[in-house]
Amino acid sequence: MKSIRTTGAGLAIMLLAILLNSQEFIYVGAQKCKICHKSEKRGKQYILWENSRHSKSFEVLFSDSALEEAKKQKLEKPPSESPECLKCHGSLHEKAPEIMAEGVTCEICHGPGSAYKKISIMKNREEAIKNGLVIYDSVEAIKTKCQTCHQGETFDFDISWEKIKHPIPKKK
Ligand code: HEC
Ligand code: HEC
Ligand code: HEC
Ligand code: HEC
Repeated sequence: MKSIRTTGAGLAIMLLAILLNSQEFIYVGAQKCKICHKSEKRGKQYILWENSRHSKSFEVLFSDSALEEAKKQKLEKPPSESPECLKCHGSLHEKAPEIMAEGVTCEICHGPGSAYKKISIMKNREEAIKNGLVIYDSVEAIKTKCQTCHQGETFDFDISWEKIKHPIPKKK
């Protein structure tokens, strides 16, 4: 029975942590991450993201095919103002509307960066996590995150990850 109780307590702490996180940490936008994450040496994560469709996922809501889709679904407002589309294409529309046009931006996957973006904290993985950085400890965890938006049967994780992955180069 002890283990069940411990798990319960663990869960309560986790929930509390999530609750605290969402109050303490603020979304700062990809321009802040760019300062340190654009160089070749560090893996140019910002550049890779900027060149991916994730950075355009809000813009695409102004396209003809988006307008057509909106008509089909009988949306009352244009796609760029409809929660039905923003849910995935501009999912910070409620939490941080000032940067929702960044689309699927860094902090949607890595967590709000106000506290962890400091160099002294970023350099220390454990501290960064304590300060709101979300990391993924398995392929399954990454895949589950993708599938919150990529819900279709046709989503091929391996191919898709190849297209957007942005690792830090291994030190020699
Ligand atoms: C002041 C510089 C700086 C800023 C600003 C910054 N980072 Fe970092 N980041 C680093 C450094 C240094 C590391 C450690 C790894 C390395 O040496 O490249 C790191 C590591 C990371 C890691 C890998 C963590 C791990 O251990 O797996 C992620 C993810 C990350 N940063 C995301 C972000 C995001 C998202 C932002 C914007 C909200 C951001 N960073 C802003 C400097 C910075
Ligand atoms: C559940 C998440 C989700 C929702 C909700 C959603 N989309 Fe998307 N949308 C995606 C993903 C993921 C892609 C990229 C998939 C791909 O290209 O295979 C995409 C791609 C698109 C594209 C570009 C690709 C193309 O083939 O034309 C348009 C335009 C688009 N969506 C419009 C909309 C509109 C308009 C709405 C609201 C009515 C909407 N989406 C709602 C997840 C979503
Ligand atoms: C918050 C929602 C969201 C999450 C989370 C998300 N995506 Fe996307 N993704 C989208 C949307 C929306 C588009 C379409 C953007 C466009 O066409 O402008 C897209 C497009 C893409 C594309 C380009 C279309 C294609 O099939 O070539 C790839 C690749 C992709 N996503 C991979 C991933 C992977 C891998 C993950 C998980 C690590 C992920 N995405 C997580 C919403 C999301
Ligand atoms: C669609 C989700 C998604 C987006 C958007 C995204 N990342 Fe990541 N990122 C991941 C995943 C998943 C990993 C690999 C797992 C991990 O190390 O946490 C990762 C890894 C990283 C790493 C560490 C790589 C390593 O080798 O340890 C850095 C640094 C990073 N991302 C920075 C950024 C920055 C900066 C942006 C925006 C310019 C960004 N990411 C956008 C999902 C995303």
